[in-house]
Amino acid sequence: MRKIFIAAASIAVLALIGPASAQQPIVIKFSHVVAEKTPKGQAALKFKEEAEKLLPGKVKVEVYPSSQLFGDAKEMEALALGDVQFIAPSLSKFDKFTKQLQVFDLPFLFDNIGAIDRFQQGPEGQKLLTSMSSKGFIGLDYWHNGMKQMSANKPLLTPGDAKGLKFRVQPSDVLAAQFIQLGANPQKLAFAEVYQALQLGTVDAQENTWSNSFSQKYQEVQKNFTETEHGVVDYMVVTNATWWNGLPKDVKEGLEKAMKLATKVNNDVADQLNQDARKKIATSGTATIQELTPAQRAEWKKAMEPVWTKFESAIGKDLIQSALKSNSGGKS
Ligand code: LMR
Repeated sequence: MRKIFIAAASIAVLALIGPASAQQPIVIKFSHVVAEKTPKGQAALKFKEEAEKLLPGKVKVEVYPSSQLFGDAKEMEALALGDVQFIAPSLSKFDKFTKQLQVFDLPFLFDNIGAIDRFQQGPEGQKLLTSMSSKGFIGLDYWHNGMKQMSANKPLLTPGDAKGLKFRVQPSDVLAAQFIQLGANPQKLAFAEVYQALQLGTVDAQENTWSNSFSQKYQEVQKNFTETEHGVVDYMVVTNATWWNGLPKDVKEGLEKAMKLATKVNNDVADQLNQDARKKIATSGTATIQELTPAQRAEWKKAMEPVWTKFESAIGKDLIQSALKSNSGGKS
C-alpha cells in the first residue's frame, strides 16, 4: 500500500518538473510551522533570497511560515505528493518514518548545541540524512534552533513538580515517555494549537526553545519558565527524493549552494534569537524564569534518563554511544 502511494506520488512529482524546466521558473514551495522571527523562519527566507539570486529566472521560491500552507499533521504527506518541495520539521517529528532520529529526543543526552553540531556533522549524523530515503525523503541539512526549556503555571524546580501536569509534546514517543517518567501526562499536539491549548487549560505545561516560546507568546499563558536545557529542537530540511533527483544539474547545484548559505545564517542567528527571546520573556512582566542549580538539574536528569534504555533497541546502542561521545571534543 505504502509502495503504491510512493509510486503514485513520484509520477505526480515528475509530471510537475517536466514542463516547468522548459521555460518557466520552477516553483519551489517551502512550508514551515514557525514565525518568521525565529532561526528557521530567517533561514527559509535566506534560502529563497540566495536560490533566486543564484538561479535567476530558473526558480521561484515561495516561503509559507506559521503553518499557513501545511501544519505538522499534513506536511510530510504534502511533501510525498509534491504539493510542497521543502519542509524543515523538528527532528522529533520523523518518528513514524525512522526510529534512529529519536536519538535527538533522548533527554539530557547532549550537553549543548556544540555537541549536537559535532554529532550531526560527523559520519553518523550525516548518514541519518538518508535514513528516510526508502520512504522517498532526502535530508539536505540540519538547522539548529536550540535547547528546550520547560514552562507551566507553577515553578518547576524538582522533577516532582511536573507530576500530574498535562504537558504538550511534539509527536514523538520518546518525548511522551520522558514526561510519563516524571508522572506527568503527555499530550501530542500540533505546534499551531499549543497557545490555545495552554490558554484554555487543555494542557498545563510545555517544552520548547526560548525563540519558539516567545514568538508564540507562551509567556502570556505560562507564568513560570525553567531553564532546564534538557533536550533540543533542531531541524532537518527534507525534500522529495524523486523531485530532487529529477532536477536539472545546474538547478540542483544552485539549490545546494543556497541551502548551505541558509544553513550558515540559521546557525549564526539561532543562539542570538534565543537569547533575545529569553530576555523578552524575563522582562515581559507576565512570566518569570527560574534557573536550576547543578544539583537540581542532576535530579531532573536522574528522573528522566531511564527513557534511554527504553528506546535503546529501537534507536541502536551504537548510535546512542556515538551521540554521547560528541559531548567531549570541543567547546559549546
Ligand atoms: C514544535 O512543534 O514545538 C516545534 O518543533 C516547532 C518548530 O518547528 O520549531
